[in-house]
Amino acid sequence: MSTDAAKAEALTFEVTRREDVTPSERIAEILVDPGFGKTFTDHMVVATWTADGGWGDAKVKPYGPFQLDPAAAVLHYAQEIFEGMKAYRHADGSIWTFRPEANAARFARSARRLALPVLPEADFIESLRQLVTVDQEWVPAGGAGEKSLYLRPFMFASEAFLGVRPAQQVTYSVIASPAGAYFSGGLKPVTLWISTDYARAGEGGTGAAKCGGNYASSLAGQLEGIEHGCDQAVFLDSSTHTYIEELGGMNLFLVTKDGRIVTPELTGSILEGVTRNSILEIAKEEGLEPEERRIPIEEWKEGAASGEIVEVFACGTAAVVTPVGELRWNGGSVDHRREGHVDRYAEAIRAKLLDIQYGRVEDSRGWLTRLV
Ligand SMILES: Cc1ncc(COP(=O)(O)O)c(C=O)c1O
Repeated sequence: MSTDAAKAEALTFEVTRREDVTPSERIAEILVDPGFGKTFTDHMVVATWTADGGWGDAKVKPYGPFQLDPAAAVLHYAQEIFEGMKAYRHADGSIWTFRPEANAARFARSARRLALPVLPEADFIESLRQLVTVDQEWVPAGGAGEKSLYLRPFMFASEAFLGVRPAQQVTYSVIASPAGAYFSGGLKPVTLWISTDYARAGEGGTGAAKCGGNYASSLAGQLEGIEHGCDQAVFLDSSTHTYIEELGGMNLFLVTKDGRIVTPELTGSILEGVTRNSILEIAKEEGLEPEERRIPIEEWKEGAASGEIVEVFACGTAAVVTPVGELRWNGGSVDHRREGHVDRYAEAIRAKLLDIQYGRVEDSRGWLTRLV
């Protein structure tokens, strides 16, 4: 079978259920306070691509370790990509996901950048549906608790070969992990550290791809931030150290006094967040004028000090919207919160996104896809 023929044919998934599934009472216990990324469901998806045969051997099988040859290319050259999404349970029990086509498209862009094979959108979405159908008991009741089932599709070079070239055998997989509310008891603003010694991504690099290497390279900056009492680091462009890019795992928005909502434009070193794109649409309903452009870090510092910038927040699938309180750097800090400050736009935009995701308002843009 040629690669093209394999591409045209949709994957069919062979389902093998675990005999010793987690008892319902135990799942219910876990779902009381699932935290993030520490418990996994009973099953996983696995599919294999080979240069000769294309995609095939798609399965839903019991969750468990991979058997990986020590020479598997991913362990040496980091040829790997991933996605992060959520499954939301609506009040009627049905289970939905948010803009999966956007994640499928980003996964395809990441694949091209890392010289991995593209998984067709239909197969990507079907793999989520297959896993969530089998493990549907693990999708928490959403409601006010904002709980969900986090979905982690990923792809890696599994060929055992130490030559540096695109792998001829690649593994695709999806695992799922119940996720609790990021914030319990109201939004808590985070403090950010401006990382000037470390960049997350560079011009012509892999910043716009969701590949493991970007996260590995963000860790030193993150640690530096934590050492300075901050929650996360904000990365600047690596060429001039002048312009705001993003956090290690979230995009940024600044709201100005005159009603503009500004976010760094996509320069190739920033990840194009699905939440970011959605906020650019939703913000208009809040009376804000969206603006995508290069933002000098000085504009943030000065605007926060002068009151020109009234709010800053970070956004991403995991935490949805997170207000930023203080900004610190080597030799200074600024806090844009005045007395009586409320993160009005962060709260309104966050509530609107969650209302759509949990089916509490009409999905007028067709952003939801039913999984179960
Ligand atoms: C580096 C980075 N930027 C931004 C985001 C936000 O993207 P999304 O809104 O698609 O979750 C993420 C999270 O996926 C990320 O890892």
